[in-house]
Amino acid sequence: MTKKRDFSTKRNKKRTARNSAEHVKTAKGRKSSSTRWLKRQLNDKYVHEAQRLGYRGRAAFKIKEIDERFKIFKPDSTVVDLGAAPGGWCQVALQRGVKKVVAIDLLPVESLGGLVSFEMDFMDDDAPDVLLGALEGVRPNVVMSDMAHNTVGHKNTDHLKIMALVEAGYYFARDILEEKGTFIAKVFQGGASNDLLALAKREFETVRHFKPPSSRKESSETYLIATGFRGKKD
Ligand SMILES: C[S@@+](CC[C@H](N)C(=O)[O-])C[C@H]1O[C@@H](n2cnc3c(N)ncnc32)[C@H](O)[C@@H]1O
Repeated sequence: MTKKRDFSTKRNKKRTARNSAEHVKTAKGRKSSSTRWLKRQLNDKYVHEAQRLGYRGRAAFKIKEIDERFKIFKPDSTVVDLGAAPGGWCQVALQRGVKKVVAIDLLPVESLGGLVSFEMDFMDDDAPDVLLGALEGVRPNVVMSDMAHNTVGHKNTDHLKIMALVEAGYYFARDILEEKGTFIAKVFQGGASNDLLALAKREFETVRHFKPPSSRKESSETYLIATGFRGKKD
């Protein structure tokens, strides 16, 4: 019997062993997190309800619950939706009688009657002008932001990133909202910064944080709800 020759060098053997170990590790990690995700989706009543009612995602229930509590959507009004994809919030706003939704997201939002949407980064210098153009001189009644960046896992960095989105949304809203209008923004880790809260309290009649029942308990997300815009002073 001929003896099989081993051509691999010691170094190659080491590399092969290391590569396969890395591969197994990544595959294992991916498997357990996607299993967790799948399990959560399968057991989530809001996911089932969203499918049954034709919503594009379970997020639709958060804005429904916000509207039920704060009565933000007015018939024939205009709404700006920041971070709108896949479009659940737009669907709810339009169902509740809003005439026009102007939306922006890094990802495309499939069309809906009454929706004008832009696939672009809200943090781009041009984004506010693009949205203003689509509003055609009409001041919106609501500016709502469900924007969330992909977390990097570093607590302070993630906090700064989300706060940058919230603040950009707020400064945009205070420039364009109609009097008595509403600003809504997703915030994490205990809410908006003290500076932003203080400003919002001067510029809106009521400012509070609200966690809709459909927001996952294990998530630190909550929503800043500022109602009764007093109108821009400067
Ligand atoms: C939780 S999802 C929004 C879900 C949406 N409210 C719905 O009902 O379908 C957050 C969205 O924020 C978007 N986003 C994050 N950063 C953004 C940015 N800088 N500009 C625009 N969209 C952004 C993401 O692409 C993502 O689609």
